[in-house]
Amino acid sequence: MSEPYQPNDPAHSAAATDASLDQAAAAREKSIPENGNQPISLWTTVICGAVLIVAGLILGYGGNRFSYNSLFRDGYVRTAPPGSVATPLPPKPALDAYMARGKKVFEAKCIVCHGPDAKGNGVTFPSLVGSAWANGETERFAMIVLNGLQGPASNGKTYGVMTPQGIGMTAEELAGIMTYVRNHFGNTKGDVITTEMAKAAINISAARKNSGQAVTAAELTADHVNALPGKPVAATTLVDPLTLEPVPSAAAPPVTAPPAAGAPAAATPAAKVP
Ligand code: HEC
Repeated sequence: MSEPYQPNDPAHSAAATDASLDQAAAAREKSIPENGNQPISLWTTVICGAVLIVAGLILGYGGNRFSYNSLFRDGYVRTAPPGSVATPLPPKPALDAYMARGKKVFEAKCIVCHGPDAKGNGVTFPSLVGSAWANGETERFAMIVLNGLQGPASNGKTYGVMTPQGIGMTAEELAGIMTYVRNHFGNTKGDVITTEMAKAAINISAARKNSGQAVTAAELTADHVNALPGKPVAATTLVDPLTLEPVPSAAAPPVTAPPAAGAPAAATPAAKVP
């Protein structure tokens, strides 16, 4: 091996070439400078992978060491920052609150066909102003809104087909839109269609024989010339503007109202606290 390489010596040629190639390769391997780009050894990868898998199994199955459900204490109730609680929206007279809700529904659902003044166009869309069915029995009106209408309208004329509007409509929205149409655009019924009545209407609608089809004048006349069941609410009854539920009158004056100017100090219990 220590003999110098003899390129022209056939006896040495093959073995010497092999040896020197090995040497050259080894030298090349060793001479590669460590620059941090060497591949990670297979063993390192396997051991790290195994550690990760075992750790995952321990966390996942080893009891309740980690669980999103255990991130807060049992029975924890989030406290509202001071001053933000006990301030529900001020109650509103029922008619105003229902009308406000109905206006939103009208603008979202009815205005496209019946127009901003609810007068329709007289050709393909009828007017709701003075409409016998909008201003008449509440169950009939509700069936039209929830299911749509085909065939002649209340004036005997057929305009086209009204598509059902009840899909996804809440009882509050139905009550609102009916109250709104009956008390706006020149209609002056003066009554409030309550959420209780609207819930009854949704149930009646679901139980229709022709459920899924638009109502017809014949069906309306045969089955739905009724007043919706439910306790009437006076236009001036105070209700919560969000839930439209009547507010008990005792709760109506805000508890935190500042004492009236000039009120005797002895009248406030807080004054007795040492
Ligand atoms: C896609 C258009 C369209 C939309 C949206 C629509 N309607 Fe109608 N509506 C009609 C058409 C068309 C008729 C008449 C159907 C017919 O000729 O049988 C009608 C008829 C009516 C009637 C009967 C009027 C009468 O006197 O006969 C009422 C009440 C009514 N719509 C209320 C509403 C309300 C409330 C909304 C919104 C929740 C609404 N409509 C949304 C097209 C529409």
